[in-house]
Amino acid sequence: MAIIKAIDEISLPRLCKVSSCVVMTGAGVSAESGIPTFRDAQTGLWSRFNLQELATPEGFEANPRRVWEWYEYRRRIIKKASPNPAHYALVRLEGLFPKEFWLITQNIDGLHASAGSKNVIELHGNIFRNKCFRCSAPVELAEDVAGSAELQKREEIPPRCPRCGGNVRPDVVWFNEPLPGECIDKSIKHSSRCKAFFVVGTSAAVYPAAQLPTVARRAGACLVEINTEPTPVTDYADFTILGKAGEILPKLVERMEQFSVT
Ligand code: OAD
Repeated sequence: MAIIKAIDEISLPRLCKVSSCVVMTGAGVSAESGIPTFRDAQTGLWSRFNLQELATPEGFEANPRRVWEWYEYRRRIIKKASPNPAHYALVRLEGLFPKEFWLITQNIDGLHASAGSKNVIELHGNIFRNKCFRCSAPVELAEDVAGSAELQKREEIPPRCPRCGGNVRPDVVWFNEPLPGECIDKSIKHSSRCKAFFVVGTSAAVYPAAQLPTVARRAGACLVEINTEPTPVTDYADFTILGKAGEILPKLVERMEQFSVT
């Protein structure tokens, strides 16, 4: 465990002389894009909104309209957001590991793909996809194309599934729900094989995602954490750098690029 002050304390050979790299991100990587995190004091979503009412299947069943409108509120914030330097640095990092690179994200904002990351695993789904709460069929909505203005004309909220008439919900993972089986299996597999594992902008509070850094460390990966505060990962990371991902990642990736060409 080493909270380091400067990225030049990181042993680059341990990071650059390997062929496989996995990155796991959380809400902190999108914070500098203007998207609120969940557990930051005062600003975090769970300090302002009721998780049980808004991010559980029980909350949706109790009040589908309230949950649908809350996700429309979040969609409007995310639609205005752009990738920040942390997202773009991770695109460059992917270029340093052409053989094996995976970006496992807990975020539902789609910003990694917008920035150009290719091998992205969205563990908790994507806020711009929808599905039926009853039959789970994917549901394409008009406003996905025409913008949320269409939503105002919608006769009922939430929309209805064209197949079974059930309520439509965002295609994201809620609490008390399993992650998409294929996503978590792939994530565990890649985490257990990689030799460099980065954890960026997550409190590592939510399982099963939070087990991935441990899986990687146990398999011998060099574990680098970038976060604005210590987390449970800090106790066993090889290097923890405290600070903003949008500031630290570009500098770290630049150093790795320079090292890789020497
Ligand atoms: P959290 O809000 O729990 O944690 C975000 C972490 O990012 C915190 O540790 C912050 O200190 C850190 N952070 C904030 N700004 C940062 C920045 N600019 N640079 C680097 N770090 C920064 O969000 P997650 O860990 O992503 O799941 O939360 C995990 C899951 O819990 C989410 O996917 C969501 C939430 O409930 C569900 O809703 C199922």
